[in-house]
Amino acid sequence: MCGIVGYIGKRRAQDVLLSGLSKLEYRGYDSAGVAILHEGAFQLEKSVGRLSVLADRLEVDPLAGSQGIGHTRWATHGRPSDANAHPHADCSSAFVVVHNGIIENYLELRDDLMARGHQFASETDTEAVAHLLEEHWTGDLMETVLRALRDIRGAYALGIMAAAEPGKMIAVRKHSPLVIGIGEGENFIASDIPAVLEYTRNVYILEEGELAVVTAAGVSCFTLEGVPVDYKPFRVTWDAVAAEKGGYAHFMKKEIHEQPKAVRDTLSGRLLDDGTRIDLPELGWSEAMALDIDRIHIVACGTSYHAGLVGKVAIETLARIPVDVEIASEYRYRNPIVTDRTLILVISQSGETADTLAALRGARARGNRVLAITNVVGSSVAREADDVIVTWAGPEISVASTKAYTTQLVALYLFAAYVAKLRGAVDPQALLTLAHELTEIPEKLEELLDTAPVIEEIAREFSAWSDAFFLGRGLDYAVALEGALKYKEISYIHAEAYPAGELKHGTLALIVEGVPVVAMVTQDDVYEKSLSNIKEVKARDAHVLALAWAGDTQTHKSVDRVLYVPRTIPFLAPLMLIVPLQLLAYYASVARGNDVDKPRNLAKSVTVE
Ligand code: M6R
Repeated sequence: MCGIVGYIGKRRAQDVLLSGLSKLEYRGYDSAGVAILHEGAFQLEKSVGRLSVLADRLEVDPLAGSQGIGHTRWATHGRPSDANAHPHADCSSAFVVVHNGIIENYLELRDDLMARGHQFASETDTEAVAHLLEEHWTGDLMETVLRALRDIRGAYALGIMAAAEPGKMIAVRKHSPLVIGIGEGENFIASDIPAVLEYTRNVYILEEGELAVVTAAGVSCFTLEGVPVDYKPFRVTWDAVAAEKGGYAHFMKKEIHEQPKAVRDTLSGRLLDDGTRIDLPELGWSEAMALDIDRIHIVACGTSYHAGLVGKVAIETLARIPVDVEIASEYRYRNPIVTDRTLILVISQSGETADTLAALRGARARGNRVLAITNVVGSSVAREADDVIVTWAGPEISVASTKAYTTQLVALYLFAAYVAKLRGAVDPQALLTLAHELTEIPEKLEELLDTAPVIEEIAREFSAWSDAFFLGRGLDYAVALEGALKYKEISYIHAEAYPAGELKHGTLALIVEGVPVVAMVTQDDVYEKSLSNIKEVKARDAHVLALAWAGDTQTHKSVDRVLYVPRTIPFLAPLMLIVPLQLLAYYASVARGNDVDKPRNLAKSVTVE
């Protein structure tokens, strides 16, 4: 997973490329590079490290030229280094290539090309593409690219230029996202829309297996067989500012604070204004369709998987359909037991996660109906699923997922209610209560965000420890898992979540004096049990922070500190609990001086296995 950008027009290419890459750093940031064509020759500048290293170099030694490609890398084949940074060139620097994805047969290609005398300068799979172009050169770039692609197996989004064809750039998409930005007298390619928004709002998302020939004057699209295709750009209506930090120190903080709006937007049009009815008009299912479902498999990765765990409880409780929640990287290689009535529900913020996409494709190949919950309208997941529920969280830039999770939960609650109603599985009064409580969530989230200064202080204390434990039962446990992931992901502190009742079966041995424990006690049916479990860790002198409902009168007696969250029904507790957990992780990361938005070894969009 990497970020690609390309420009052709009248501006200084280096500026456009650097600006575009800065919007794509969430896709990978271990090295960056640009190739700019000037007076018939490529100038390459690449450097290991953050984009700022490259930008500093280019500031000292700017590159002339108004046509170029750039890349920000998340290493897969070959460690992060100057040599492995993209763009890559062939032996004679006649072609330059940037790539996102994996060329699966690159070792084979490399051996073959080396046997033919090609010299490789990097350890990457991508470099093989540049040499293949050299090998297949016919005098026509598009024809050459199409020939070279026939030799390649794998996933790719490619940006390609040839010194012999100035004024032209080729973009190709196969299993990795790529968009074309259409300007006036200038055009762009990029892995994601925010990279071009500063310059144009007219965007075309390349389809699977499409190639675009991009010049300053226009864009033509073709299949990989070279057949011209009609394409229809669309106008991006969301604001470029939405993708910027907007005054916050980090994208993560901004995105945490955007949750009331994100939830409101996700509910909009799906809850009647008076809060009395839940609907998902985009699905338009009949009662028969809902009744036909015999089981649901929820498939996702990371935070989206954790949202799925809450979704299981929501769907089973309301609709009484059995649900299994599966990690996509496991599911895709299993032979799951499904019938033709099993619904596969994939959840993915980006809609480009390779494992989730593969699970989706496997499910469709088995003949199952696939419903996707995603945050990106034009993503692969959205386009390949049978039905889509979009979470209107807006662009999420920080690697640590926050507002995407909250809106995934909202989408799952809505879906559970929608199916339950169609199946006649739920008391209408319970749905009315749920609808009413959902309408109040955004306001309660706003109230909760005001507790940030208290959490900052707690996080500072906790961040001195090398471990933290997150405990809960039922839905509290599902959120504990997400809280622990957030905490470890950005603070680099070992964090684990446990069902509180499971502690005494081993984990209690890890509880020592002062160790931070975050315990959640919002589930009324196991309230007493949860308090007993808290007493077990307190008896071992752990430092316990409890998250409890406002008005709770008991919890404070058993813990060191309580953070009270605005009350809603226990069923919706995850929507409340997650905010303090996100803030705790955020401030622990800040206290440790970490790069909050770009945690080490991670990337926002995991488009490779
Ligand atoms: O885009 P997706 O929702 O498919 O991404 C799945 C995970 O990679 C993602 O949630 C990851 O776990 C987050 N970085 C966690 O904060």
